[in-house]
Amino acid sequence: MHGILITGGAGFIGANFVHHCIEHYAEARLVVLDALTYAGKLENLHAVEAQPALRFVHGNITEQSLVERILRDEKIDTIVHFAAESHVDRSIHGPDEFINTNIVGTHSLLKAARKVWLDERTVDQHRFHHVSTDEVYGSLGPDDPPFHERTPYSPNSPYSASKAASDHLVRAYSHTYGLEVTTSNCSNNYGPYHLPEKLIPLVIMNILHGRPLPIYGDGRNIRDWLHVSDHCRGIELILLKGVPGESYNIGGSSECENHELVQLLCAIADEAFSEDPELRLKYSHCPAARGASAASLITFVPDRPGHDRRYAIDCSKITSELGFQALMPLEIGLRATFNWYLRNDWWWQSVMDRSYQEWIRGHYGAGVGCNSVT
Ligand code: NAD
Ligand code: TYD
Repeated sequence: MHGILITGGAGFIGANFVHHCIEHYAEARLVVLDALTYAGKLENLHAVEAQPALRFVHGNITEQSLVERILRDEKIDTIVHFAAESHVDRSIHGPDEFINTNIVGTHSLLKAARKVWLDERTVDQHRFHHVSTDEVYGSLGPDDPPFHERTPYSPNSPYSASKAASDHLVRAYSHTYGLEVTTSNCSNNYGPYHLPEKLIPLVIMNILHGRPLPIYGDGRNIRDWLHVSDHCRGIELILLKGVPGESYNIGGSSECENHELVQLLCAIADEAFSEDPELRLKYSHCPAARGASAASLITFVPDRPGHDRRYAIDCSKITSELGFQALMPLEIGLRATFNWYLRNDWWWQSVMDRSYQEWIRGHYGAGVGCNSVT
């Protein structure tokens, strides 16, 4: 790992991975390729943008010649491919971008890697790591065993279908052309730099501003939450010790119903507000500022179409073969995340821009949508 191309490195998980690499691989050259399709800014890399080892290229993964140039000019030997359209709800509203980036874009990257690494042999060793999701496996019943690497693919949303297609293309480029690939299928992440249109940061924002906390359907859907720092460590282990051609599931063994998760965040907020008079002054619209519980904001809203009931990950392969262990327990991770959002209001104030506001209003309607973010 001398020259690493991180696609989607300005997004939530990609940026956390860039921070991880800068901390642990000071000698590596990092190139981030990102189209900045949401928020349109580089806020997630703000803390590291002056690092000499880091170069940012504003571009699209579908531009094969641009990717080829980066691979040659920067002597890239490792691609970690995060770039994707990643929000299930957006994929339901408009699937086309998901097909274009997640399938066509991944194929374009694979073609560039094949040309430069296999035909031109610019480097002695290479690795294409594809970052994917547990959602490709579909939905589990309450008593089903967790997803393992041999669980048949059964994607249910345009998002998960497009990720499944990209996983198959990555596998085919290994099998057919001998490209050295690995894939990880990870459960739901949370942590710093998570755009507040996904459940956990949305709930934190709405608690602070005293807005409704929208829970889809009956709130009994289950996700298996993993702190993003654990996901980054899992990817690092696969890059260092993973076997080319193999896939690895990464998860936190932290299954939680959505309603329970939102209650937990409300309890964290209630405690923080009860202990901190400054917080009560700053976020006076939060019920906890008046001694009521943030849980009074919980609002059940119509369910997401085709909403997968349960995801759970069996990560025994990466644990036994590569020594992976998730280190962040869910409740501690949620507290840390809540505190990160409190400390970094500059960040969410700048990413919750006009296009973000339009999405929230369009998706939830005026009742739940926000009028203002300040
Ligand atoms: P994100 O939406 O925060 O980040 C994706 C990044 O990719 C953004 O910065 C975006 O600008 C960039 N991008 C989108 N289309 C692009 C294109 N055509 N060319 C170049 N860049 C483009 O998403 P995330 O949550 O950080 O997810 C990153 C990866 O991890 C995705 O592949 C996703 O499927 C996977 N994943 C996410 C989760 C999760 O819980 N968020 C869980 C498992 C796997
Ligand atoms: P999300 O963060 O969008 O991740 P994913 O759909 O990829 O799992 O949603 C996590 C869970 O929370 C999912 O079951 C849908 C649910 N959810 C709500 O109940 N309300 C919301 O406003 C959002 C965004 C999600």
